[in-house]
Amino acid sequence: MKTQFARNAAIAVCLMCSAGQRPALADSLTASNTVFLPGETLTLTYTADQAATQDVYLWFEFGDKVMFMDENGGMSNYMAGATTPARLKSPVAGKYRLLTFTQPGWFYSSVVAYSAKGRPGSDALAPGNLDSQSLRAQPLSFTEVPGKGVAAAVNGGALYAGHCASCHEDDPGLNNRNRVRNGIDPKTTRAAIQQNKGGMGVLSPLSSSELIAIAAWIANPRFDCH
Ligand code: HEC
Repeated sequence: MKTQFARNAAIAVCLMCSAGQRPALADSLTASNTVFLPGETLTLTYTADQAATQDVYLWFEFGDKVMFMDENGGMSNYMAGATTPARLKSPVAGKYRLLTFTQPGWFYSSVVAYSAKGRPGSDALAPGNLDSQSLRAQPLSFTEVPGKGVAAAVNGGALYAGHCASCHEDDPGLNNRNRVRNGIDPKTTRAAIQQNKGGMGVLSPLSSSELIAIAAWIANPRFDCH
């Protein structure tokens, strides 16, 4: 999975350059560089804000893949140059489950979701067929494994003090003991845990959002002054 996502990321960069007709919509990008644990799910929430015309398409892009959602919540691969099947038009508003992870992994690439009008009977995303005026970013979210530290994730400092400081010292801003500042990228900490570096394997129960909160705190440690 790691290798696959790394490859996808490289291809995604190329796609971005060639897909010049699509504006960048950074606000739909909520899953970039996120570490996922088994059972975690990436969800797209589609609000059909574009009047009930018959030619709205909904799709998401991740790595080198573009996937269309159909009206029943199914997904189909987009193939450039091929006619976009009519059944992929006009998805109903609601939540679409995009991916559920079955093994630990992480995204190197971003995931973005869009809806737009595209002309029927053609390649919906081809230049000229996509109505860029109607293009909307659609929000993505990811669901934690139930019961795994969502509330705790808001306090990266407390998590660091409890799980990391014993081997990395209290203030990662003042020291870089055992290269702890590499943990500014949560993927590096996840990898260290998976490889049991320095005995860190015991930390494998930490959830994605806990590692992300810890990473944010390592990047910018703040201590309350009483
Ligand atoms: C039991 C001691 C221990 C604990 C607890 C621990 N670490 Fe480590 N960590 C180490 C040691 C030792 C190394 C250096 C390992 C090596 O060089 O092979 C290390 C390395 C790292 C690295 C560098 C990895 C790399 O490849 O550059 C990061 C980042 C890191 N730890 C983050 C954390 C975070 C964040 C926590 C808390 C969630 C944590 N560690 C908890 C002992 C620990």
